[in-house]
Amino acid sequence: MKAGFIGAGKAGCSLGRYFVHYGIPLAGYASRSMASAQAAADAAHTQSFDSFDKLLSMCDVLFITAPDGQIKGVWEQIRAFPVRGKFICHCSGSLSSAIFSEITEAGAYGYSIHPMFPFNSKKTSYEDLSKALFTLEGDREHRDQMLSFLSVLPNPVVEIGAEDKVRYHAAAVMASNQMAALMNRALRILESCGFSGQDGLTALAPLVRTNLENILRSGPKEALTGPVERNDAATVEKHLRALSGEEKEIYLPLCRELIRIAESKYPMRSYEHMERILEEEH
Ligand SMILES: NC(=O)c1ccc[n+]([C@@H]2O[C@H](COP(=O)([O-])OP(=O)(O)OC[C@H]3O[C@@H](n4cnc5c(N)ncnc54)[C@H](OP(=O)(O)O)[C@@H]3O)[C@@H](O)[C@H]2O)c1
Repeated sequence: MKAGFIGAGKAGCSLGRYFVHYGIPLAGYASRSMASAQAAADAAHTQSFDSFDKLLSMCDVLFITAPDGQIKGVWEQIRAFPVRGKFICHCSGSLSSAIFSEITEAGAYGYSIHPMFPFNSKKTSYEDLSKALFTLEGDREHRDQMLSFLSVLPNPVVEIGAEDKVRYHAAAVMASNQMAALMNRALRILESCGFSGQDGLTALAPLVRTNLENILRSGPKEALTGPVERNDAATVEKHLRALSGEEKEIYLPLCRELIRIAESKYPMRSYEHMERILEEEH
């Protein structure tokens, strides 16, 4: 089945080049601007289209890789063209295939296919995509054809219910984007202790990298270290005294989650004193 992309951004460019690498034929790209479509087509050795209907007529599986807020509008434009028998997909983590309103009446099959992966580059992200998990949600009747289309890729594909997509996506954001926010705040605190941005990153790198590797290898419980794991309430109390209001707002709920992990790791220990200290800060 031939694939096409509307939206020549980071996800569209990466997936297109990735598909080509695994032998999925590409019909080409269309986008808001012809320049993006052309650049994506050049990189994937395929064609660019100046209209959505021309691209649609050339492909069996159409990916709408425009930003989430544009997907509905793009679908409403292409629904007016002959879509019967086409697989229409988007790659949003939080939206379901329900965004394709009246797709059954139009005779097409709608899917949301979300690669759990941070595409931060149009040019290079596809190189690391092979281990990413894809979640699939959508038309049940044609699901085997969709799974067969994806089966040439080495990626595990997990099916997800439409009703779970928002919480699923929130989890992905917590584990990835919010990690960046946490790192940013830690770097700002280190800056206030005299570390330049780069020095801070260098200082944190072995700590963060090893910790993350431990978490990924054995899970958060086994990987847990630090004052909460040691039930060292005095140190946590000192942290709270040293942090500003906004810093504490970040520190406190994460500390509560750490207590939950520590309690499950050491069921015989009481973390009551530490919990009381956190409660007093509330
Ligand atoms: N980036 C990620 O890490 C990631 C991961 C998983 C899933 N996704 C999903 O992938 C989708 C795209 O995200 P992205 O990060 O690739 O965004 P992006 O880099 O901003 O690219 C979006 C592309 O869509 C084009 N576009 C915007 N409005 C359009 C419209 N009305 N019609 C046609 N094309 C339009 C833009 O056009 P021009 O360049 O032509 O102006 C741009 O090339 C989203 O649904 C997102 O949730 C992203």
